[in-house]
Amino acid sequence: MPGMGRLNGKVALITGAARGQGATEAALFAAEGARVFLTDVLDQDGAATAAAVGGSYRHHDVADEAGWRETVDWVVAEAGRLDVLVNNAGIFRVVPMLDTTVDLWHRIMDVNALGVFLGMRAAAPAMVASGGGSIVNISSIAGMHASPTAFAYGASKWAVRGMSKSAAVELAPSGVRVNSVHPGIIDTEMITEVGDDWREVLTPRIPLGRPAAAEEVARLVLFLASDESSYCTGHEYVVDGGIIA
Ligand SMILES: NC(=O)c1ccc[n+]([C@@H]2O[C@H](COP(=O)([O-])OP(=O)(O)OC[C@H]3O[C@@H](n4cnc5c(N)ncnc54)[C@H](O)[C@@H]3O)[C@@H](O)[C@H]2O)c1
Repeated sequence: MPGMGRLNGKVALITGAARGQGATEAALFAAEGARVFLTDVLDQDGAATAAAVGGSYRHHDVADEAGWRETVDWVVAEAGRLDVLVNNAGIFRVVPMLDTTVDLWHRIMDVNALGVFLGMRAAAPAMVASGGGSIVNISSIAGMHASPTAFAYGASKWAVRGMSKSAAVELAPSGVRVNSVHPGIIDTEMITEVGDDWREVLTPRIPLGRPAAAEEVARLVLFLASDESSYCTGHEYVVDGGIIA
């Protein structure tokens, strides 16, 4: 029903939104009344997703510093404001520490960690100019405990968790909230990196007995993006079906 959305009047930028969790968040946010802006490096999927949810798409590699300025300028030029940033783009590789090359380390840190830092730095001033905002950084349960099979990925997701806390304290006086979300095993393209048998391999570790649908993460991200979470900043929000370690 128009006028009743939980993100009514808000302008949201979601990275890595061509598919998976980002695309689901874009659809849910739009259904809740937000104007949504999507970025990704998968341009065909990105344009199709944006068209399907009634949003706008732009190519942007989150590790590209100049591209962040252009992306925030694009949103503000189109919509006049920026209220929500979801730093969702990420890459995942199953490689243990002893096999991790410096190249792999840099590639994963550039997208998953540097991309989040650049996004917060570029978006925060536009949010302050809009009277405040909410930044939701997508980490992982790999940023809550050990990640022995995906070493660089785990390091990048702990970096997201740590910088979210620091940014939350820095930006709180300006009315910008920052939180991290820590999904467990989510049924998207990414998890197939574990192998074709990922469902059989990983499900026994999940107390709720199943992987999550992207929608189940998106509903938590929606809460953090909306004013319903007005007193929440600087913390970790886990959505993992009860995984202990
Ligand atoms: N699927 C899971 O089990 C799981 C668990 C925990 C956390 N996560 C995190 O959730 C987020 C979303 O992942 P997903 O599950 O939807 O996987 P996904 O692979 O379907 O989506 C990731 C998206 O990010 C985009 N992307 C990759 N590199 C990019 C770059 N440099 N610039 C811009 N976009 C880029 C991809 O093209 C893709 O559209 C990621 O940060 C991921 O690390 C996923």
